[in-house]
Amino acid sequence: MAQIDWDSLGFDAYRTRTVVLAHYQDGAWSDIELSETFSFTIDPFTQGLHYAISCFEGLKAFRQRDGSIAIFRPDKNAARLARTAAFIGMPAPTESMFIKMCELCVQNNLEFLPPYGHQASLYLRPLLFAPHPQMQLVPYPEAIFAVMCAPAGSYYGAHLRSAAAVIPGDFDRAAPKGTGSYKLSANYAGTFVPYQIAHQQGYAELLYLNSATREFVDEFGSSNFFGIKGGNTYVTPLSDSVLPSITNLTLQECAADFGMMVEKRPVPLDELDEFEEAGGCGTAVVITPMSHIDIKPVLREPLVTRTFRYEPDGEVGPVCTRLYKRITGIQFGEIEDVHGWCYKL
Ligand code: PLP
Ligand code: COI
Repeated sequence: MAQIDWDSLGFDAYRTRTVVLAHYQDGAWSDIELSETFSFTIDPFTQGLHYAISCFEGLKAFRQRDGSIAIFRPDKNAARLARTAAFIGMPAPTESMFIKMCELCVQNNLEFLPPYGHQASLYLRPLLFAPHPQMQLVPYPEAIFAVMCAPAGSYYGAHLRSAAAVIPGDFDRAAPKGTGSYKLSANYAGTFVPYQIAHQQGYAELLYLNSATREFVDEFGSSNFFGIKGGNTYVTPLSDSVLPSITNLTLQECAADFGMMVEKRPVPLDELDEFEEAGGCGTAVVITPMSHIDIKPVLREPLVTRTFRYEPDGEVGPVCTRLYKRITGIQFGEIEDVHGWCYKL
């Protein structure tokens, strides 16, 4: 096996040893299978490919300071997958099956679990898709559930380093009463080209507004939005088209533990001017503090009509830093897990 440089891991697909699989057919899940082939055989008519009847999850396993292994809040990911699956009429694994398959994935890829001390973890990617060949636009009770993993470090190339974001005036992420709050594969398809354009212009992130009125902040393409107000209030959007982030939920609980106020409510675009700190949060990105957020009416064109600036002295703000240390400290077993978020293997 190739030697892994644990300190320079990014966030990429990885050829580990084992993928954990189960197949739902004829009203029941198959036995769990461990596969080392890293390939699926699927029918060219599969619904998963043609109609994006496919969804996924993302969670992390950590080697903790005392040597033990913990998966962070897998019960929440199991519940979110079940909610997403129900939305597209797919059978979903039970919570215990979901967690068992995540555990098997870690145990059978242990050589890819980063050792303690490298700020890295094993990212678990559970995928649920419809393999049935079908042209009709109705659900069919068959599913493949696969849990794969990849050693992961920092999403943007460095930990807790600030990034720039752009609000694109000519792209939306999700319709009201549409798919935005579900972790559907299809939700990400529409972000690829705007991300490509944004990256070419030096923006790491896209910040999407609510598509009905474009007056409120929804979320980033990869993560939820949060802002810090008055040094003591954590504000995050309440919106039907935002993915319910488990990291965001965790940070809200951390903020409350610090004695901060937590406000989950619609966030008007203009309020971006009132935050001292703002950032994205999610499993992959953890916390990404934003240095500034630009508004561009047309993403491909140079015109910027407004800029919201954070970090005036060029340093990541104190609340982002404190929240980051808290959540990663709990994940790596350095801070007592008073809420019972770490599921120990
Ligand atoms: N929003 C989007 C669009 C995401 O893809 C993710 C990542 O999973 C999140 C938010 C953050 O969710 P979580 O903290 O559960 O990973
Ligand atoms: C995660 O954070 O787990 C995600 O799935 C985000 C990814 C799509 C960039």
